[in-house]
Amino acid sequence: MAAGKGTRLKSKHPKVLHQLGGKPLLAHVIAAARKLVPASDIYVIIGHEADQVRAAVQDTGVQFVVQEPQRGTGHAIMCARQALARYKDVIVLSGDAPLITPRTITKLRDFHLGSKAAMTILSARLENPTGYGRLLRKRNRDEVQQVVEEKSSTPQQRKIREINSGFYVFSVKPLFQFIERLATDNPHAEYYLTDMAAVLGGAKQKVVAVETENPSEILGSNTRAELVGLDQKLRQEKCQQLMASGVTIFYPETCVIDADVEVGADTTIEPFVQLLGKTQIGADCRIRSYSVIQNSVIGDNVLVRPGCVLDEVRVASGASLGPYSHLRPGSDIGEGAHVGNFVETKKARLGKGSKANHLTYLGDAEIGEGVNIGAGTITCNYDGVHKHTTVIEDGVFVGSDSTLVAPVKLAKGAYVGAASCITDDVPADSLALGRSRQIVKEGWAKQKRAKKSSAG
Ligand code: UD1
Ligand code: CA
Repeated sequence: MAAGKGTRLKSKHPKVLHQLGGKPLLAHVIAAARKLVPASDIYVIIGHEADQVRAAVQDTGVQFVVQEPQRGTGHAIMCARQALARYKDVIVLSGDAPLITPRTITKLRDFHLGSKAAMTILSARLENPTGYGRLLRKRNRDEVQQVVEEKSSTPQQRKIREINSGFYVFSVKPLFQFIERLATDNPHAEYYLTDMAAVLGGAKQKVVAVETENPSEILGSNTRAELVGLDQKLRQEKCQQLMASGVTIFYPETCVIDADVEVGADTTIEPFVQLLGKTQIGADCRIRSYSVIQNSVIGDNVLVRPGCVLDEVRVASGASLGPYSHLRPGSDIGEGAHVGNFVETKKARLGKGSKANHLTYLGDAEIGEGVNIGAGTITCNYDGVHKHTTVIEDGVFVGSDSTLVAPVKLAKGAYVGAASCITDDVPADSLALGRSRQIVKEGWAKQKRAKKSSAG
């Protein structure tokens, strides 16, 4: 179920697209469900901002059911009637409870199948059950009489600590045989799926609940505070997992590592590092403080010095970056290459062992192996209308403070003298100088000083 608005988040974005560990809440729930059933058997009920929600998770291969308008969780399931007709049982998950694990869903399913119930509720016992629906069990304790929502509960019922997690399994036949009996006589004037417990019970159908051992898995994210709390929990677990697999993370509470990030063994991550999106980092790397790396692939044995910003780039093994390098999308740094302080790259390939160590901009550049880019070199890749490419072949030496006006090519082994403005191609093994010749006026300074003292 992912059709709700999420009023309590006070957001213009749909609740299930708010992010946790760098990906939408709903994507976490879908990922858990996919461990049990193929994507083609997963139906996402969408409604509020349906197009946005669909676009965000479409690539997972799930199906969609549209609930329009959104008249409660019971109504959401009514809308899925046709889609579910060919199944015997259905597992219902809440799109806003992202910490649920495949293990717990499996347990819920197996309990349902074992007890031959019409409805099985996943329950949890919480220290503070405020806001959740409470479970009223029958005298025999195994079966459930009713779920009471917080707003409709009596002070006595509010003391019950066993709550409805919002995860269920239903036998499809009795579910749709009796779902029309749901009513909207409640404070929100909605169809509550939770009322199916009393409805099915009234129809002599079996309704049971199984309590989870991990109550934190079922926590919802109804408010910003809850969302941030879950995010912190997820990231703590992520750091624990990485450390268990051989990664050293100093002060893990200061690092922001997204759920899908991969890091190889013996890599060290210093405090205040952010690893985001689908970033992959190899083994034996060191990622120093204040670096922010997003959707990038880094090889083994790479040193990222402090303060680097990387977005959609590849860095091959043995390379070193920073401090303060800015690698923008499409940068491809070769094996053992060096990108130094205050160097910005964009759509630039730097070949094996090449170096751009200081104060440089390399945009739309194809740079070969063993190239030395002197301090302050700039590729002038933009003429105000179009972007152009600079090609620098193997073994080229570019002297400091040179400007390379693209499109331009420096062929194999060429030299460019310092402070050159290169507008024409440079042939292999030649020297290009693009600057005015130096003038020396001998004795000029001495004369000037003498003039000044005689005047004084
Ligand atoms: C629900 C349960 C409550 C339980 C809690 C657990 C009901 C009436 N209450 O409350 O007993 O303790 O979950 O977290 O079900 N949704 C739709 N269509 C709608 C309304 C909601 O698809 O018309 C979706 C929402 O997007 C959300 C999920 O259903 O993913 C749960 O809805 P929400 O409004 O968050 O229910 P809770 O108030 O948390
Ligand atoms: Ca909720």
